[in-house]
Amino acid sequence: MFSSSPSSSSRTVAVTDQIPANGRPPALQLIGNSAAMQALRAQISRIARCGAPVAIRGESGSGKELAARAIHAQGARAGFPFIAVNCGAIPEALMEAEFFGCRQGAYTGALHERQGLFQAAHGGSLLLDEVDDLPLGMQVKLLRALQERRVRKLGGSRDEAVDVRILCASQHGLARGVAAATFRRDLYYRLNVIELAVPPLRERLADLEVLCEAILARLSPQQAVRLAPPVLAALAGYAFPGNVRELENLLERALAFADDGVIAPDGLGLPSLAGVTPLRAPPAMPERQLSLPGMAPRSVAPVLPLALYLCQAEREMITLALVRERYHRGRAARQLGISVRQLRYRMQKLTIQEPQLDDGMEDK
Ligand SMILES: Nc1ncnc2c1ncn2[C@@H]1O[C@H](COP(=O)(O)OP(=O)(O)OP(=O)(O)O)[C@@H](O)[C@H]1O
Ligand SMILES: [Mg+2]
Repeated sequence: MFSSSPSSSSRTVAVTDQIPANGRPPALQLIGNSAAMQALRAQISRIARCGAPVAIRGESGSGKELAARAIHAQGARAGFPFIAVNCGAIPEALMEAEFFGCRQGAYTGALHERQGLFQAAHGGSLLLDEVDDLPLGMQVKLLRALQERRVRKLGGSRDEAVDVRILCASQHGLARGVAAATFRRDLYYRLNVIELAVPPLRERLADLEVLCEAILARLSPQQAVRLAPPVLAALAGYAFPGNVRELENLLERALAFADDGVIAPDGLGLPSLAGVTPLRAPPAMPERQLSLPGMAPRSVAPVLPLALYLCQAEREMITLALVRERYHRGRAARQLGISVRQLRYRMQKLTIQEPQLDDGMEDK
């Protein structure tokens, strides 16, 4: 249910999922040199210097926990524990004991006095992952603990002081829960002092190559594995809804089909283009320096498989026409020089969706 920092400088605490269920050793740092990743790292360094609570937002598998670990590791609390807890994974009945500890006999089955997450993280940082999944009752108790910096074990009669930096993570940000009345506004203000957004992988495709290299080196420490040249282009055309975690899974599967240490495009098992939400714009592939004898190095545009490139260009132009014509398909089709039927077919094929508008959108 919770895990401690893999960093050797952290105190060891009881863990239940230090090695993830898939048995894969976790990455220890955020990899990537894209502008987005450099900006993220710069923000993390600044945030690490202060002790304020941080609310991290980002899609599933985008690296929120890794960002939280980096904030902890670069701050003054680095020599103390980092504890991560998935708030959505704890049964509500056990939550109070899990967070604040419990006295022996506090409930049936509480055979021993036990520390909670707050005590375990004392001096260090506590990451509340999927914090928006906390039930309202537990939100009240958490707020009290944060305000008073004291916790009371379940079944206990006295409070203990705890000194913990609170980091929290969610996919959509906490404001959404406040608007939906599922998240307390007062707790929101306590937790959301500093906001940090982790960009999805499809917005930093320039990181793909180094990410693949690092992941493959981690997955296959004995044998060097490389990607056949078209593989990177194929990956860059994929939207990665599951972000870096999905990339890890994909490469792990591809490793099983690698021949002589080379992953070929058909070993990737990428969902076919028709089933994937293609990217809105041609992907920002990392530019390579091409250096030939006697020539100064120059930057060259990456080569994409033609089908993928055409697909993306088509999608972009259709979207542009639709937006310009306020989703009036007839006018958009005229602009594009195709029939409305053809437009409808292509929109379906490319999974282009229209927003709900009051006017327009008629098949004229
Ligand atoms: N920039 C990155 N560099 C290297 N590995 C990364 C990066 N971002 C994510 N990962 C890896 O991807 C996986 C998911 O990362 P992490 O658990 O930090 O994501 P998350 O946003 O917390 O996911 P979830 O929403 O499921 O909680 C981990 O194995 C992590 O090591
Ligand atoms: Mg997480």
